[in-house]
Amino acid sequence: MKKIITSCALMLTAIAMGSLVQAQPAVHKLEVDVSKSVASIQPTMYGIFFEDINFAADGGLYAELIKNRSFEFTLPLTGWLQPNSDRHSLNLASGMGTIIKSEDNPADRNFLRVEVNNDAGYQLINEGFRGMGIQAGALYDLSFEAALYQGAISGVTFDLISPEGKVIGSTSVTPQGNNWKYYEGTITANATEEKAQLRITFTGKGAIDMDMISLFPQDTWMGRKKGLRKDLVQLLDGLNPGFLRFPGGCIVEGRTLARRYQWKKTVGPVTDRTMLVNRWNTEFAHRLTPDYYQSFGLGFFEYFQLSEDLGAEPMPILGCGMACQFNTGELVPMDELDPYIQDALDLIEFANGSVNSPWGSVRADMGHPEPFNLKYLGIGNEQWGPEYIRRYEAFEQAIRSQYPDIVLISGSGPFPDGEHFEFGWEEMKRLNAEIVDEHYYRAPEWFRENATRYDSYDRNGPKVFAGEYAAQSVAIASPDNRNNWNCALSEAAFMTGLERNADIVVMTSYAPLMAHADAWQWTPDLIWFNNLASYGTINYYVQKMYSNNAGTDLLNISEGGEALTGKNGLYASAVKDEAKGELIVKLVNVADTAKSLSLAVKGGKASGEVMVYAMTGDNPDAVNSFENPQLISPVSSKTTIAKNTLEETIPPHSFLVYRIKMKD
Ligand code: AHR
Repeated sequence: MKKIITSCALMLTAIAMGSLVQAQPAVHKLEVDVSKSVASIQPTMYGIFFEDINFAADGGLYAELIKNRSFEFTLPLTGWLQPNSDRHSLNLASGMGTIIKSEDNPADRNFLRVEVNNDAGYQLINEGFRGMGIQAGALYDLSFEAALYQGAISGVTFDLISPEGKVIGSTSVTPQGNNWKYYEGTITANATEEKAQLRITFTGKGAIDMDMISLFPQDTWMGRKKGLRKDLVQLLDGLNPGFLRFPGGCIVEGRTLARRYQWKKTVGPVTDRTMLVNRWNTEFAHRLTPDYYQSFGLGFFEYFQLSEDLGAEPMPILGCGMACQFNTGELVPMDELDPYIQDALDLIEFANGSVNSPWGSVRADMGHPEPFNLKYLGIGNEQWGPEYIRRYEAFEQAIRSQYPDIVLISGSGPFPDGEHFEFGWEEMKRLNAEIVDEHYYRAPEWFRENATRYDSYDRNGPKVFAGEYAAQSVAIASPDNRNNWNCALSEAAFMTGLERNADIVVMTSYAPLMAHADAWQWTPDLIWFNNLASYGTINYYVQKMYSNNAGTDLLNISEGGEALTGKNGLYASAVKDEAKGELIVKLVNVADTAKSLSLAVKGGKASGEVMVYAMTGDNPDAVNSFENPQLISPVSSKTTIAKNTLEETIPPHSFLVYRIKMKD
């Protein structure tokens, strides 16, 4: 009997052990060689693409709070309300603002003539960009130009009001004389309000002409007067971007040639910059924003300055004589292309030329005598077909002969494959192009399946700029797309493939960069903001993990001699940071199960200390939000490595960065 019990017990133990053995997950044995640098990681590897879409410039980064400050919109009173003057019933008893066209200044053609008839309380209200974000205790710079026209207006009062009409800050100005004068005031806000408006009232009767009515927070990025919104630039700065591509996107091309982006109209005094309707205003019937214009207060000078502030290489993109091919596709005939090419040459002079050169002097007059050291220039955005190639060639010849050091970025069309893409690439190879821009807005699965995309690219051909990409949770340009964890994790997986191919992929940027929560046209976007707050999406933190751990040299990391490109749900890339003496390993697990890893470090000695940055989450639909801005974001911790081997279990659905300190 005892024997039977013993053998039963042995059997049970064996079964239990067997099942234990079966339950043990396989250990993935990874190897990374720190002694062999496969390629240099270009300092431009992870950058940002600022595109004026989704109210990213006016109403966003450019901190101006007044919409249509100079009455230049197609409907010149857009954004302005006159509640006590009912134009339709011609009840103009209290007064009326009328648009007058000025002959003197071609850029700023309109101004407003305000006639105040009696004491009935004429009001002029600016609604801001879906309201104005006002912070309690903050100071606001109010300015305007005015000339008394007739009668006796003795005072102009500016009140910040809440949606309920409560005054939350005021300033008054006494206008003087019949000549145009510049007036300033300061408003201190006594309450925080996301949807404030600016109300203007008048003392006395008569008529006064007004223009460039402007309101900025004093607390801007770097404290620059009439500058950029601080919280948004801080988010950009957090990405430590290697370059700043600007200003678009399709707005570069314009729906028509007449409405293309013309950089020369965006520099010099702000009052001389010609307003332009934004191409995205009515692009999508499901997201109409007819009040979307470009004041160009954020113009090319400011983009260069921002690049400098961020320590990013400036990368302007210029139209090449082709309007957006998704719209009119209008073409400049080849024999009329010279002015467009001259714009490119002049831009290089504006950025880099001596202060004595015509365009260098414009830069100097704007307060930047030192050159901006422009190195990269994009020719065309998402152009395709033979007409693009002909125009690109003409630009290239002219720029190469005068500025051989400028690196040109060419396009390969809007899609990552297909006829236009293949044709574009063939042609760019034939032309020995330096860097070709690729765009991909695709499903999350596409990103997971394409981590090997660049493994087979020609190592002797042009380099790659992955200039616009983002996983689309529903479909390209669907208003239901979300910046969810599934998309962000898929991008993280794909990016191991960008990094593993850093010998030919030299620049990358997510797109679009920013969106106003109440005024967007395109989703997903890297950063969301409203009038008071902003947050980085989960995708933002994925970008941040890469850009803040970019390293200097690409290393080989493998499992059984093979790169990790999705088998068992695992992706990996590795770099070293030569200056800091650190090995940096990026690991993505898209599987539903945890993975045990044993990472052997070859060719160098690990000191023992390891910093870990982890993004994890169980819910693929999870999103960051204004309420929970860091729901999924990197969490840092420390671990150790013994005998040059890191033993770790990485959770399901996770993206981890390990920074392993090496001995000298
Ligand atoms: O980022 C949104 C748009 O997508 C860009 O303007 C264009 O380049 C691409 O089609």
